[in-house]
Amino acid sequence: MLTNMKSHFPVFENNPNLIYLDSGATSQKPRTVIDAIRDFYEKHNANIHRGIYSLSVRSTQKYEESKGKVARFIKARSPSEIVYTKNATEGLNLVMYSLAGRIREGDEIVITISEHHANLVPWQQLAKRKRAILKYIDVDEEGRLNLKDARQKITGRTRIVAINHVSNVTGVIHPVEEVISMAKKVGAITVVDACQSVPHIPVDVRKMGADFVAFSGHKMLGPTGIGVLWGREEFLKEMEPFLFGGDMIETVELYESTWNDIPMKFEAGTPPIAEAVGLSAAVDFLNGIGMEEVYEHERRITEYVLDKLLSMDHIVLYGPRTPEDRIAIFTFNVKGLHAHDVAQFLDYRGIATRSGHHCAQPLLRRLGAEGTSTVRASFYIYNDSRDADALIEALKEVKKYVG
Ligand code: ALA
Repeated sequence: MLTNMKSHFPVFENNPNLIYLDSGATSQKPRTVIDAIRDFYEKHNANIHRGIYSLSVRSTQKYEESKGKVARFIKARSPSEIVYTKNATEGLNLVMYSLAGRIREGDEIVITISEHHANLVPWQQLAKRKRAILKYIDVDEEGRLNLKDARQKITGRTRIVAINHVSNVTGVIHPVEEVISMAKKVGAITVVDACQSVPHIPVDVRKMGADFVAFSGHKMLGPTGIGVLWGREEFLKEMEPFLFGGDMIETVELYESTWNDIPMKFEAGTPPIAEAVGLSAAVDFLNGIGMEEVYEHERRITEYVLDKLLSMDHIVLYGPRTPEDRIAIFTFNVKGLHAHDVAQFLDYRGIATRSGHHCAQPLLRRLGAEGTSTVRASFYIYNDSRDADALIEALKEVKKYVG
């Protein structure tokens, strides 16, 4: 397991009793990321692509450097394939709006029942507006994707296949390559929500084979306010922009405009510049550990936590009961208790978890948690076996104190 990671994160110094198990919602930030943002504002702040003075040139360089780093991190062909957005949700909406012109009545859009609402509601809206057919690939009782069902749902009429790489509820790593290859055989465009994968496992967008991959900065040690959309160059070049305004244009006449090159065509207005600099530092931090190492750390935590959760009869776990092909996210309930009461009790012990539907209502229904809130504990690089023990000890005792 990784050791002594908490010392890099000021939040733990300022909250010495905090056991943070909500990295699925947002990760904590290392000192290097916080310092990079402060350093940018203190020494290099200016708008980008708009000034020929040195400060603006420097600021532009920092922004472009960030794109280069992110491109290399996910093995993209070129930084021109990296679009910065407000968050991953905006990236997914961008793809939906820009592809909308290609969808006709009766076309099929295939997603999975395990999507986060960000990769579900946009496609639901597109299907409604275009009278297209929205189909869901099923998962099994543990939340693992049903590939047989995928083979049946993806047909000659499928135009778009959108899938999450890793579930934010079960932690399952879906076999996206296999689904993408099914989609490619029928000529469908593929979109991957990689919010819970890029921070936790090595991701190679070219190997994956998708056409679009979206993820957020704040779940991978970076700041809030920045999302990444990677798109295949040929698609980005052809697609219509989603937002219109400054910097995304080449020329503007009174009644016509032409568009800038990619990726600027998709970045209307002032982009998240300081956030890009922070994201750069986050990528450096993760590279310093190595993504294989990050995954290995989570695999060990998973084995440790899973074993203990499964030994407690009063815990109902939603998700795989085995440690393979998953990250360290555990969604559960305590029999007879409401999830919010459990989360509040955990908070009394300093343990931060998320309770509710985790922005994935159809999946929770499918896993048998219909109408029920659940508790989610999500681990990351700064969590260790002591954090896991604190959670387990609290769960052993929760029924004595609550209910
Ligand atoms: N999508 C984030 C989560 O799963 C907010 O908690």
